[in-house]
Amino acid sequence: MTLPPSLNNLFQPPVRRLGLWLRAPGEGTLRLAPAAAEGPSLPVQDWYCAGEGSQPEPPPRHPPGSLRRRPPERDFYMDLIILPEKVGPLEILTYLVVCPQTGEALVVDPGGPAPGLAAHLRREGWRLRWILNTHGHADHTAGNEHWAAATGAPVVMHRLDWEFFRRPKMQEEARREGFPPLTRVDLPVEDGHRLPLGHAEGLLLHTPGHTPGSLCLYFPGHLFTGDTLFVEAAGRTDLPGGSLEALLRSLQEKILPLPDDTRIWPGHDYGGTFPSTLAAEKENNPYLTDFF
Ligand SMILES: [Fe+2]
Repeated sequence: MTLPPSLNNLFQPPVRRLGLWLRAPGEGTLRLAPAAAEGPSLPVQDWYCAGEGSQPEPPPRHPPGSLRRRPPERDFYMDLIILPEKVGPLEILTYLVVCPQTGEALVVDPGGPAPGLAAHLRREGWRLRWILNTHGHADHTAGNEHWAAATGAPVVMHRLDWEFFRRPKMQEEARREGFPPLTRVDLPVEDGHRLPLGHAEGLLLHTPGHTPGSLCLYFPGHLFTGDTLFVEAAGRTDLPGGSLEALLRSLQEKILPLPDDTRIWPGHDYGGTFPSTLAAEKENNPYLTDFF
């Protein structure tokens, strides 16, 4: 599949390989890093920790000196540690994403303190570089102040959602639902903004529909979809600022062109196989099968 030009240069080889191999459930042997295995168990299974050298080096796909272009860098994109934790009364999925070579981390949608993720961060000595909100709904932003105060990392959100959800009316709405209002965004961004993370780099895709400024975070092999796309479902479009037409356009223009084996990490776990893949969603998700 041909990638949009903006995605092509994400497929770069790693600066160096450390033999770190990460496996999804059912894809092979999992091995927790020793420090992670000693700590408290997470509310949800922490699937993506792997110890250095836990899997052998794979053979080169092509002989040394071959002029053939390498296929998409699976070796590279698997070199991320991804830890999910369900947080808050609406059980949003908060993720910690880590470059294992450098220990730089980002948190996606902190719905609260997320003690399991915080314990990993502290114990491993990882440094939080970014706090990303996929959108401005209060269940996804409720932990912003806590994480920012604890780590000093900046809060990142699309400019449109920052403008939309900072309004007094929306702040009052958040309070009514029992969440702290959104009062802080340090880095309002636009489509195509890149978040460096150690040896990796995330690309922010503006995917309006669930909210005006919804974002998906893409690393080669991984897509954090917030409430834009769930496993076999999609986010509501009947809330303030929502638009089904915009959501379908986002799915068609921003998500469907990604590689089929892209792993889908949604903002809520509403059933089905978690995490999913884009290929599975193309088969089973009515928002992808019934509209295109
Ligand atoms: Fe939402």
